Amino acid sequence: MEQLIIKGGNPLRGEVNISGAKNAALAILPAVILSEGISTIENLPYIEDIKHLVEILENLGAKCNFKDKHTLVIDSTNIEKYRAVYGSVKKIRASYYLLGALLGRFKNAEVAMPGGCNFGQRPVDQHIKGFKALGAVADLKNGMNKLKADKLIGTNIYLDVISVGATINIMLAATKAQGVTIIENAAKEPHVVDTANFLNMMGANIKGAGTDVIRIIGVEKLHGVRYTIIPDQIEAGTYMIAAAITKGSVTVKNIIPKHMDPLTAKLIEMNCIVEEGDDYIKVTAPEKLYATNIKTMVYPGFPTDLQPQITTIVACSHGTGIITENVWENRFQYVNELKRLGFNITVEGRVAVTKGPVNLMGAEVFAHDLRAGAALVLAGLASVGTTTISNAKQIYRGYENIEGKLRVLGADIEKV
Ligand code: EPZ
Repeated sequence: MEQLIIKGGNPLRGEVNISGAKNAALAILPAVILSEGISTIENLPYIEDIKHLVEILENLGAKCNFKDKHTLVIDSTNIEKYRAVYGSVKKIRASYYLLGALLGRFKNAEVAMPGGCNFGQRPVDQHIKGFKALGAVADLKNGMNKLKADKLIGTNIYLDVISVGATINIMLAATKAQGVTIIENAAKEPHVVDTANFLNMMGANIKGAGTDVIRIIGVEKLHGVRYTIIPDQIEAGTYMIAAAITKGSVTVKNIIPKHMDPLTAKLIEMNCIVEEGDDYIKVTAPEKLYATNIKTMVYPGFPTDLQPQITTIVACSHGTGIITENVWENRFQYVNELKRLGFNITVEGRVAVTKGPVNLMGAEVFAHDLRAGAALVLAGLASVGTTTISNAKQIYRGYENIEGKLRVLGADIEKV
């Protein structure tokens, strides 16, 4: 099993370049299926989930070639299959975007149910609700989602839950539907906006992405485009926290500082020094970090995907911290691994209470999922001695070259 070995205690110093946003890329690559032509996608993060998705697109008939690690040219003209059953489909959670894209192009879609992170139920009922509202017949049996529609007719869809995946998936299916689709109670995350911008560049007619009402007027055809993915808000946040937790000073570059506002505000509350530029943020650790309270919310609230990471630094800080996870029902499993390093954290359902500071000693730990793994990396960097993180492949799903980027900043980290 792949491992990361960290000898903690080094303050991180220097600059780190942030890669393209994983959760934007995982939506935009399937969105290419809706077009007939050649697209060039730039600033793709070079991570496992993207490689799997490209394999799936090729299996459907797309011609894909990487001009370099971060630039992919896709010819979607000859995609003719609407059954995505290829092995990789189950390896990534975001394979559900293939449903909206294939339904939108072929009025037919068959996609194996997604895998992905394991912090509680990952339902897709709101996705299916949207597809049915547009006129599709949905059939889910033995792990296969099947959708079929004679016609896709625009309609009003009110999401019961603010869901990133459902918002994007319905947007994909509605892009070429007849008439107007209104999605209400829509998610507003940066990757929702990035996907809408990409679709509009291809010739779609989508207004309101980034607000809670998105209006989509169906169009006949979409053409290929050249598009650059936005920077990854969660990768950037992870490195901002790494600077503070190692008592260092790091400039996180090629980002959109606005996307980082919820985290920036919290780091300042904890007594960090934060300098913000047009496309970078510099975080310098204070002498003394103070614990604070965190409530994860949909954007523009504090992002759930930074919850394990922020919990780790709050638990190192002076005082009591209360972290409430409002998006996922069971996203504190990683706390048991943190306790092996010496953390004092008590979890009750959706709330974790931390008491700090603590003396952390390296230990053997296991990465349950992608962001839990990121939290263990941060904890290892802050611990005395050696931390060995097993199941590290979970981390590589969402962090490009994490050991290389951390080593440049002065971390003693090795990938085995
Ligand atoms: C996306 O997952 C992200 N994944 C997740 O990031 C992220 O945690 C999540 O959004 C919230 O920001 C990708 O973009 C690939 P949701 P998604 O639909 O779309 C409930 C990472 O680390 N819900 O916004 O699956 C659901 O149970 C990953 O990069 C329904 O009830 O999340 C949850 O409580 C982990 N029915 C809430 O909504 C549905 O049909 C938010 O889920 C869909 C969701």
